[in-house]
Amino acid sequence: MTTDVFQIELRKAERSRIQEVDFNHLPFGKHFSDHMFVADFIDGEWQNQMIVPFENFTLSPALSSLHYGQSIFEGMKAYKNEAGEVLMFRPHANMERMNESARRMCMATIPEEVFMGGLEALLRVDADWVPSTPDSSLYIRPYMFATDASLGVAPSKTYRFCIFTCPVGAYYTNPPKLKVETEYIRSAPGGVGYAKCAGNYAGSLYPTMMAQQQGYDQLIWTDAREHKYIEESGTMNIMFMIDGKLVTPATSDSILKGVTRDTILQIARSWGVTVEERLVSVDEVISGIETGRLTEAFGAGTAVVVSPYSLIGYNGKDHMLPEFAPEDSFAVRVKTYLTDLRTGKIADEFGFVQKL
Ligand code: COI
Repeated sequence: MTTDVFQIELRKAERSRIQEVDFNHLPFGKHFSDHMFVADFIDGEWQNQMIVPFENFTLSPALSSLHYGQSIFEGMKAYKNEAGEVLMFRPHANMERMNESARRMCMATIPEEVFMGGLEALLRVDADWVPSTPDSSLYIRPYMFATDASLGVAPSKTYRFCIFTCPVGAYYTNPPKLKVETEYIRSAPGGVGYAKCAGNYAGSLYPTMMAQQQGYDQLIWTDAREHKYIEESGTMNIMFMIDGKLVTPATSDSILKGVTRDTILQIARSWGVTVEERLVSVDEVISGIETGRLTEAFGAGTAVVVSPYSLIGYNGKDHMLPEFAPEDSFAVRVKTYLTDLRTGKIADEFGFVQKL
């Protein structure tokens, strides 16, 4: 069967698994919706666009992405409004970033008709999986990997692009404890830090595990040369309120250009909040906490949304962040606003929300 609008072949699951999911208790990334979109890049073009049941791939043991890491991904979300319509949040921003990652990793880029056509067709088929329970959303995972079966270290000539989705709840259930990392690095100038490539996440696992053994939840990465400036946190960009201004590290080739980061900066500016995108030193943050000039520190990302931190550990000492009444916290206010925007409760003056 072929879908009318996008000429995508559709093979439906024999039975839906949706009844097996408790939409009131959604862990992050454990339940997968019934279908996925798949397309293959072969002979210089995207072909075989299909929506098929969420099922295993058959892969060559020599698959080059498994050996040399040509593998990139995105994270985005969809919501339901009160009328039950599906709303996508800034899907074009993720598509553009995916293609930036693809260029850096020497991979095929994905045209809009394949990315958006596949995404929209998939969301139509699995619209029932978009949750409407509080603090939940449909997390969308587009990704692409090299499929040449070849051991020469060279860009693959073939790729698979896939999108699958999962209904998710909160990523962190409690405000996370962060440790400033001063030994390992996530990325360096000239490297691939700004690309959303699988290897960036693999490289972060060991230092993060070390920090978790010390009682922290996540790391704050610092610059590769001096460990003096804050870059980003694991799975999220990082923001501070200092002297009533919203301060965040300026993006560079070693920092991911977060869509949520950009969204929050736009909202803050529209509220008249002064935004500073610049170098932020660890010393400025630690002395800011000690003197009370720094009032908030939080992560921003698709998965975590807005996640206020409870403490920041640096050189063996933990620095507690102050607690606020929700109405006094920028992070809480912006998170609520963002949720209302994404679920269509308030007017979207930014043009971020796209109805399916
Ligand atoms: C996202 O926020 O979508 C991410 O990609 C982080 C993920 C690794 C959990």
